[in-house]
Amino acid sequence: MTDTSSVVGIIGGTGLTTLSGLEVKGSREVDTPWGAPSSELIEGHLDGQPVVFLSRHGNPHRIPPHEVNYRANIKALYDAGVRTLVGVNAVGGIHSDMGPACVVIPEQIIDYTWGRASTFFEGDLESVTHIDFTWPYDQSARDILIGAATAHGVPFAGFGVYGATQGPRLETAAEIRRMERDGCDLVGMTGMPEAALAAELGMRYVCLGLVVNRAAGKSDHIITMTEIEAAIEQGMSGVRRILEVSMADLGALASLPQSS
Ligand code: HPA
Repeated sequence: MTDTSSVVGIIGGTGLTTLSGLEVKGSREVDTPWGAPSSELIEGHLDGQPVVFLSRHGNPHRIPPHEVNYRANIKALYDAGVRTLVGVNAVGGIHSDMGPACVVIPEQIIDYTWGRASTFFEGDLESVTHIDFTWPYDQSARDILIGAATAHGVPFAGFGVYGATQGPRLETAAEIRRMERDGCDLVGMTGMPEAALAAELGMRYVCLGLVVNRAAGKSDHIITMTEIEAAIEQGMSGVRRILEVSMADLGALASLPQSS
């Protein structure tokens, strides 16, 4: 029988609707008290490690970032035994080191989203809960992803503050300048509330970002879907490689005490 405490979850974002390389054992439509998740849960093995995969925007890709049911997604994965979770996110690069097709493993978040259902702690509660969120990404999981990218020669930036915007439109150049002054290095629409919800359930969560464009005003041209698709095509193989070679180590984290 599978030890579900070591199951690793992967939430695939834009460009990662399915996970090739996953040896699929089955798929399940599930429900949660918060509604249905974005897609069925795909259960299988990646490099021998039990994995549950969920497509954040549905399969086919149809749910925009501001309409994703983040609570249902996180709860469904938690109920499937996931305690270590990798969120794969397409992002725009603000920092000059973060050009198209670069992988990013950020360490911090600033949340600019609004109006999203962003906590499990609401309604008829017995007490008020404030989780610690000082370090939104699990440091041990970050180290594993950074080690994998280094060992396999995948171009990456192992730092950065993720600015989570509401979308679905991209930002203005002035908004990006403001985010840069705030300290943001990358920008995306799906990093929050996903990370906070995972923290509320006590899961280890890590972001594996892929830069698909330079953020608004950071290049000499406007952002086009053609450019984004080309960067996904170029960079997603590196993301897949990192996932594959990290799985066993991420699975083993479940048996270690959580320090961050
Ligand atoms: N901004 C916000 N989200 C994104 C971007 C961007 O430039 N690129 C990919 N996701």
